[in-house]
Amino acid sequence: MYFQQRKGSCQRQLISNQFVKAYDIISITLLACLLSTFTYAGDDATSTASQLSEPFVDQTTGLEMERFFGARTSFGFGFALPAANTTSTSFIGQMTFPLKAGLGWGAMGLTGDMEGNFILAAWPDGKGGVMASFRQATDEDNPPEVTGSFAVRPIPDGTVVNATSLSYTFLCENCLDPTLGLSLDTTGNAVMGWALSEKAPLGDATDVGARLDFHERGFGPFTARLGAAKSQKFDAIAATALGPVAASSKAVAAVPGAAGGDSDDDDDDDDDDDDKETSSEGGDDSDDEDD
Ligand SMILES: *[C@@H]1O[C@H](CO)[C@@H](O)[C@H](O)[C@H]1NC(C)=O
Ligand SMILES: *[C@@H]1O[C@H](CO)[C@@H](O)[C@H](O)[C@H]1NC(C)=O
Repeated sequence: MYFQQRKGSCQRQLISNQFVKAYDIISITLLACLLSTFTYAGDDATSTASQLSEPFVDQTTGLEMERFFGARTSFGFGFALPAANTTSTSFIGQMTFPLKAGLGWGAMGLTGDMEGNFILAAWPDGKGGVMASFRQATDEDNPPEVTGSFAVRPIPDGTVVNATSLSYTFLCENCLDPTLGLSLDTTGNAVMGWALSEKAPLGDATDVGARLDFHERGFGPFTARLGAAKSQKFDAIAATALGPVAASSKAVAAVPGAAGGDSDDDDDDDDDDDDKETSSEGGDDSDDEDD
């Protein structure tokens, strides 16, 4: 998932075309590859940690939130914390993202890096409902489903799915956990992450442990202003949450400390991202910084 690099089919296509020396086909392939790179982010992050969440009011519930919104993909992640309880480790979250023919999945993660990230993924169950599943990127090719003291409880008012979009509003209990990677700075900000695919999870969509493949539609870090996300309506809306979503029998215990960053690692996060992009893309990382 996040920050994972893939060899594009464009490269293979170009190599095979060179054998037949059909240069106009090569140009068309090149153009198609450029266009598809533009439409689908592919290997490069489509956001940076310099993008801060902004104030947002959910139209359905009236809840005041902070929200990250990816303009290129229309992936949104809103979040709210209780106004009074300063020690709350729970938040109300809302993922909104586009689907293609009713298919796709989206995810938010507690850190901006793929490695060891603690992730909540959501996708349509194909029957009008939304599935939600905790993952941990201890295996980046197939992040296992995990269980622990955390829980996700759907909030029906802000949960709706149709052929073109999905909105999943939820109470994430005990999710704001430093041992799972959350790294708050002194101003109440934390670099978090997101990912988006237009493909259904592999296997049965109603299996909460279904395998999630590559997030080809977009991914990246952003800065969540958790300290600015306190909402007076939190308690009233949290009280409408349904019971916890059960994990599948495949789920394993979440591993504390799997996400590399301790709290004093903050300054390294951006450097790590740059290193990965540089090593795979031959040093055009400066473009990403400008986004
Ligand atoms: C405040 O949040 C903590 C951690 O989420 C929880 O255990 C506690 O019950 C909350 N207190 C109130 C008054 O809601
Ligand atoms: C699907 O849901 C979105 C968001 O609620 C809405 O804007 C859109 O009109 C809906 N599309 C259809 C075909 O109902």
